[in-house]
Amino acid sequence: MKQQILSQLAPDHPWGELLHCFDCVDSTNTLAKSMAAKGAPHGTILIADRQTVGRGRLGRSFQSPSGMGIYLSAILRPQCSPNELMHLTCAVAIAMCDAIEEATGFRPGIKWINDLIWNRRKIAGILTELSLEPSTGKVASAVVGIGINCCQWEVDFPAELRSTAASLTMATGRNIDRSTVAAAMIRALHRMDQELLTHKALLMERYRAGCATIGQEVSIHRADTVSHGRALGIDDNGALLVKFPDGYTEAVNSGEASIRGMYGYV
Ligand code: BTN
Repeated sequence: MKQQILSQLAPDHPWGELLHCFDCVDSTNTLAKSMAAKGAPHGTILIADRQTVGRGRLGRSFQSPSGMGIYLSAILRPQCSPNELMHLTCAVAIAMCDAIEEATGFRPGIKWINDLIWNRRKIAGILTELSLEPSTGKVASAVVGIGINCCQWEVDFPAELRSTAASLTMATGRNIDRSTVAAAMIRALHRMDQELLTHKALLMERYRAGCATIGQEVSIHRADTVSHGRALGIDDNGALLVKFPDGYTEAVNSGEASIRGMYGYV
């Protein structure tokens, strides 16, 4: 896999020599966090063929079978405070839509905040995790994890995911070369990294344009409550602006809530 990916990156791509490929890990995000703590440089990329404990947002798991998907984590070291990175997951989502479109011709939609979708089903998820410098409170590292279902047909998913999950193969009707998608992901993450702190407004404008949640009736799931409203928009920090039936509008934070469409997953 490593040689196939490198052969599709420019020979002088700055992140090419920071690429690590593994047959099996528990979670590329968990391994990336431990490599970051030991000093792994900005631009380190980890890719696994399989994960035994693939992790998703809000404590969920991410199914990561061998030969079927891309499970990738990148270590970034932006020089900023955490509140300047509230839009990171949105920026990664746009970069991944760009990468998938470049590699396959198909552009996924986005379900707030971190899911890429096709036909109201989830194709990919993003998990971003920050570590802070204890003395300054600044960002020490940001681990950006992306899992993309590439080669599955519907029968390949476990029964409980069959009606809500999809893959790039299902979306395009074609076989997918995972190394081509992985190379496009690395290029897109590198471009995103160059714009992350300087082009926030533009990134958020692109995110809003690609986000299928805006305008939808949604249910908002918090720890122990479910409420219903209409998604009006997304603010510059990635919070979902929801209008409730009593007219009250709230910015719903992605760290505390997930959403579902009123009539299905999206
Ligand atoms: C979600 O669906 O909530 C996010 C899923 C993120 C999965 C990716 S796969 C690579 C990286 N390693 C993990 O354990 N999780 C992310």
